[in-house]
Amino acid sequence: MIEIKNLTKIYTTPTQKILALDNVNLSVNKGEIFGIIGLSGAGKSTLIRCINMLEKPTKGSILIDGQDITLLDKNELRLARQKIGMIFQHFNLLSSRTVLDNVMFPLEIAKVPHSQAKKRAAELLELVGLSDKAKAYPSQLSGGQKQRVGIARALANEPKILLSDEATSALDPETTRSILKLMKDINKQMNITILLITHDMNVIKQICDRVAVIDNSRIVEVGDVLTVFSNPGTPTSRSFLNAIIKSEVPEDLLHLAKNNSNNSKLIRVSFIGASAGEPIISNMIKNFAIKANILYGNIDRVKDTPFGNLVMEIIGEPQAITAALDFLKDNGLEIEVLKHV
Ligand SMILES: Nc1ncnc2c1ncn2[C@@H]1O[C@H](COP(=O)(O)OP(=O)(O)O)[C@@H](O)[C@H]1O
Ligand SMILES: [Mg+2]
Repeated sequence: MIEIKNLTKIYTTPTQKILALDNVNLSVNKGEIFGIIGLSGAGKSTLIRCINMLEKPTKGSILIDGQDITLLDKNELRLARQKIGMIFQHFNLLSSRTVLDNVMFPLEIAKVPHSQAKKRAAELLELVGLSDKAKAYPSQLSGGQKQRVGIARALANEPKILLSDEATSALDPETTRSILKLMKDINKQMNITILLITHDMNVIKQICDRVAVIDNSRIVEVGDVLTVFSNPGTPTSRSFLNAIIKSEVPEDLLHLAKNNSNNSKLIRVSFIGASAGEPIISNMIKNFAIKANILYGNIDRVKDTPFGNLVMEIIGEPQAITAALDFLKDNGLEIEVLKHV
């Protein structure tokens, strides 16, 4: 659906050249919700803006349904862009137009007859739950309502792709959830491919099928959300992950790690999916000559799969501790011996 090949973007300013994207390769499948996560300045907005050619790539190609949009002339690009809707962090609504007129705007540009445009816009407002606000102005709406208008507007030309640049970053968690749910519903109902960028792992967790991690202008990891969650391959991925599963061990527990000795280890056990439902920990306690003191635990879900971690102190003879930890590893749990920092 979207195929990005060797994409490089260099911004040239009077004083310097900035490498914002460094040989990015990525493909997004039809109908999937694909997330790109990265810290501020990593190159996320540049990447998403290249996909609809708001930014011209320095090198590389971007194929949408096989058509390389970097090669299109102005007219062809205008048509191609109609099939790519975009929503923004700050909504970008026209303040002097009513809600209905905002949604009609892209249809006017596409020269859709007025009555038809009006009908379509009204249907979209219905879809996003804002029919009663058709005549309101953006300043009269809450943030969540503004983003709903943004979504309705992005869908006006029946796009095949919806791009989202931090669309929920200005919203509170509750509103974020409702907007993400709306995006998920739209993805299902209309079979629209969604590519979203965010710095928030919660967003990825809630709706994405796959995720790419962008760090310092490069894609450093791509995978199934669950795979990346369970086994982050880079420090960047791990830091995003920590933010969400709260696997940072509370400070007051970490001081216990100071006492890590031959006869006691403070460990973190991460678990995912099926193993979360099995009595592995209780089997370990039964089968090995150790004591386990559970100090902290956290469980969450990625889509429908349980995911979490436990911090515990294992006390016993060194060989028994080693055998117990091997047992946990053999049962598919990730083990990390915590060190005091
Ligand atoms: N129009 C621009 N001109 C020059 N540098 C830019 C421009 N836009 C972004 N950059 C730089 O490119 C890098 C990536 O920016 P951006 O894509 O906005 O990152 P993100 O969205 O991940 O925060 C940053 O170093 C930023 O300062
Ligand atoms: Mg950005």
